[in-house]
Amino acid sequence: MNRPHVFITRRIPAGKLALARTFCEVDLWDEELPPPPQIILEHIRGKDAILSLLTDRIDAQVMDAAGPQLKVISNCAVGYDNIDVAEATRRSIPVGNTPGVLTDTTADFAFSLLMAAARRVVEGDRSTRLGQWKTWGLTQLLGLDVTGSTLGIIGFGRIGKGMAKRAQGFDMRVVYYDPFGADDPYAAEVGAQPVELETLLREADFITVHSPLNQETYHLISTGAFAKMKPSAILINTARGPVVDPQALYHALKDRVIFAAALDVTEPEPIPPDDPLLTLDNLIITPHIASASVETRGKMVEMALENLRAGLNSQRLPNCVNPEVYAEGLTGS
Ligand code: DGY
Repeated sequence: MNRPHVFITRRIPAGKLALARTFCEVDLWDEELPPPPQIILEHIRGKDAILSLLTDRIDAQVMDAAGPQLKVISNCAVGYDNIDVAEATRRSIPVGNTPGVLTDTTADFAFSLLMAAARRVVEGDRSTRLGQWKTWGLTQLLGLDVTGSTLGIIGFGRIGKGMAKRAQGFDMRVVYYDPFGADDPYAAEVGAQPVELETLLREADFITVHSPLNQETYHLISTGAFAKMKPSAILINTARGPVVDPQALYHALKDRVIFAAALDVTEPEPIPPDDPLLTLDNLIITPHIASASVETRGKMVEMALENLRAGLNSQRLPNCVNPEVYAEGLTGS
């Protein structure tokens, strides 16, 4: 029997690899680091599907290299800005993602960044290790209160809503900006108020970014946005790095236009070790790990494999970002 051939662009847990091998022949890039673009082009040739990560650029050139039998692109992430979805749609190739399973894990992490930046946890740890803890000081490492403050959520999707839910436990006032969700019924449930972006920037003590990266959100937070924020504002970004202009952020933090920031995502990724942002004490940076819990990462791979299997069987993907490919029976069911 002719089994389908699939390129998996990174090492996956052994159990999940065994699962993949029950329904396809796997060409595995068995490494911790992403395959270089040239390697993707070589390995995708003649494949029926690809299981990609958010670090892999999947564009027209990659789809051309695969050939016309490419049936599905399964991205092991909820975000899919690494994929030229319009091009995939033009070719009637369904693109899968992994929404839902990482919502709480990511919101937990975003909230922990918020707390850590407000209360200067990382600076405290760093100064202790450097032997700078000399006494209990009245003005030592003063942070800002979270309880009772105002949280501004940019992007009121699943993770943005998860932040609103968490904020309730801290008696926070919650405002949100989402061009597509101004009248979201969940907002009333968690006491969140829709506002214009400008109002959010001016009124929020904590601004947390949860919007996808696209043409509208690229450098949405830049010099003009920082100028509107309170000098005590703290910015958190766990969405995509390029939503925040890194040079504008550097100046906003260095010149104390805002109090602090915490990023789990950067532009570029990884951030180069000599990036000026890394010289700032009022910035926390983690290496894109907001969804990195044992359970969640396992579930993400499972979902990506479910999308892969469905696509190979010409069935509708359980989670498809371009469902228009199913219109008029273009692809599968
Ligand atoms: C995603 O799935 O898009 C996240 O960024 C991974 O943490």
